[in-house]
Amino acid sequence: MKQLHWIPKSAAAMILLVSSVMSTSSLAASEEKGLIDPRNQAYEQDHPDQYHSWKATSESEHIEDALAEDPNMVIMWAGYGFAKDYNKARGHFYAIDDVRQTLRTGGPTDENSGPMPMACWSCKSPDVGRVIEERGEDGYFEGKWARLGDQIVNPIGCADCHDTRSEAFKNGEPALALAKPYVERAFQAIDKPFDKQSRLDQQASVCGQCHVEYYFTGPTKGVKFPWDMGTSVDDMEKYYDALNFKDWTHKVSKAPMLKAQHPGYETWRAGIHGKNKVVCVDCHMPKVTKEDGTVYTDHKVGNPFDRFEDTCANCHTQSKDQLREIVSSRKAQVLNMKRTAEKQIVAAHFEAGAAWDAGATEAEMSDILQDIRHAQWRWDYAIASHGVHMHAPEVALEVLGTAVDRAADARTKLVRLLATKGITEVVELPDISTKEKAQQALGMDMDKMNAEKKHFLETVVPEWEKAAEKREASYQ
Ligand code: HEC
Ligand code: HEC
Ligand code: HEC
Ligand code: HEC
Repeated sequence: MKQLHWIPKSAAAMILLVSSVMSTSSLAASEEKGLIDPRNQAYEQDHPDQYHSWKATSESEHIEDALAEDPNMVIMWAGYGFAKDYNKARGHFYAIDDVRQTLRTGGPTDENSGPMPMACWSCKSPDVGRVIEERGEDGYFEGKWARLGDQIVNPIGCADCHDTRSEAFKNGEPALALAKPYVERAFQAIDKPFDKQSRLDQQASVCGQCHVEYYFTGPTKGVKFPWDMGTSVDDMEKYYDALNFKDWTHKVSKAPMLKAQHPGYETWRAGIHGKNKVVCVDCHMPKVTKEDGTVYTDHKVGNPFDRFEDTCANCHTQSKDQLREIVSSRKAQVLNMKRTAEKQIVAAHFEAGAAWDAGATEAEMSDILQDIRHAQWRWDYAIASHGVHMHAPEVALEVLGTAVDRAADARTKLVRLLATKGITEVVELPDISTKEKAQQALGMDMDKMNAEKKHFLETVVPEWEKAAEKREASYQ
């Protein structure tokens, strides 16, 4: 770490580092502007470079099954959707396909069935901003996920990050904007209202619309970011505890659990690049120069190492291999601590299950379950956004250390409690060496879930597509 020198190589990099306040219209969705056009292709003609590079996010098509890679997570999420299936992120282009295909959204047969609320669409599509504008937030959020399946059809795109109706945008300026009022409120809660932010901050905030921690709340299960007390792991833990909020009750330990989503914006802020105002876009959406000398923003959001000369090399003098080596060794460190924490947390869940079986009471368990809740929240906060080993490895390692500490508290108390119930031998864990075995150990009926999903994809989704096509044919 110490041998690194940060030397901006080009004037362009310097300009990117200078903050300038930008005016944006953000949510000023004035009527005379007409409706938001959610179709990405509608912008191809005016902005071909941005459109084609956006569309190239489809090249990142590989699906990686995170549960198969690490079956401990099946146990940690027992009783919750993520134990059914969980894939790593891929290109923005696939956001709609993937939310339809995941077992987590189940196999709804009509607009009122299926396990998830409407909120699950919120970070997948520019149709979300459109529907909120047309029906209000409650009109969007209320009901089950399948209710507006025919409305939310275009993957993450132009109208998620730009005020596409502004003259500025039409003229080729960025006109960055937030498409959702609940995001606007979250930035106000941390004293960073979007229209008062510098250009650099806005570039990070458009990503922070989705790459954040959030939860569902209120009568319509709307999205809220738990930022009222701050964005660190401690701040958000305090916030959730004060509300007595839980995402679910753990199937084995009965602990009141929190699921961290992907606090990428929060952990980036706390990391070395975030502190130096090096924003998401500097690495994931660099400015590139065409053969004719014109410059545009590359919209192929993906791995910055694929475009090293336009990203890291703008500011760093080290070679690609050197920086890659640093990042991959940090990845190994974070992965190692992640596994260390998992070993303790998984054991704590089963030991708590054994304590219940041995007749433990609510009063005896409540303190222990709180430790388990905190341990797993910390584990999840640290690792749920996949780039954390790059964005803020020191934050991830510190938080994982505290996760191990909370799990150790739980297990120490459990050993004593189990002893009072006459159990002094080690609690045996079932075989959880593969995803399938772990799911079996929890008694999950995967065949049934897969059949329901297949039926949904074959019968419901084509109807959604048809209805959407009809609606969109009437645009313009
Ligand atoms: C995830 C957010 C995001 C999405 C999705 C997105 N953009 Fe952008 N766009 C940006 C950012 C960030 C910039 C650069 C902002 C700056 O320079 O301050 C930008 C810049 C632009 C610009 C200004 C010129 C330039 O290249 O810098 C245009 C025009 C543009 N985008 C068009 C589009 C179009 C068309 C789409 C859809 C096909 C799209 N954008 C999708 C974030 C996004
Ligand atoms: C509207 C919500 C939304 C916005 C805005 C957004 N993302 Fe994403 N992003 C997602 C989702 C959802 C996925 C996962 C898609 C999938 O796997 O189907 C994703 C995936 C990614 C990936 C993985 C890509 C790959 O090929 O593996 C990266 C990197 C990423 N986003 C960075 C960014 C950056 C940087 C910004 C801001 C410029 C941004 N995102 C803005 C929702 C969003
Ligand atoms: C200093 C450069 C840099 C900044 C700033 C940065 N990232 Fe990254 N990010 C990377 C690199 C490099 C990787 C891939 C690490 C690797 O290859 O192991 C990555 C990985 C990711 C991933 C995981 C992709 C995957 O498929 O696993 C996401 C998501 C992501 N970044 C989003 C963001 C968001 C959102 C921000 C801003 C809040 C941001 N990044 C800021 C460099 C950066
Ligand atoms: C816009 C400029 C900029 C870009 C682009 C950028 N960095 Fe940095 N990087 C910085 C700054 C500033 C620091 C902090 C330097 C310091 O404090 O000495 C830093 C620090 C680092 C460090 C040391 C962090 C630590 O923990 O001490 C690493 C490693 C690093 N960057 C890797 C990368 C990689 C990999 C990329 C490309 C994916 C990248 N950076 C892109 C500006 C940038």
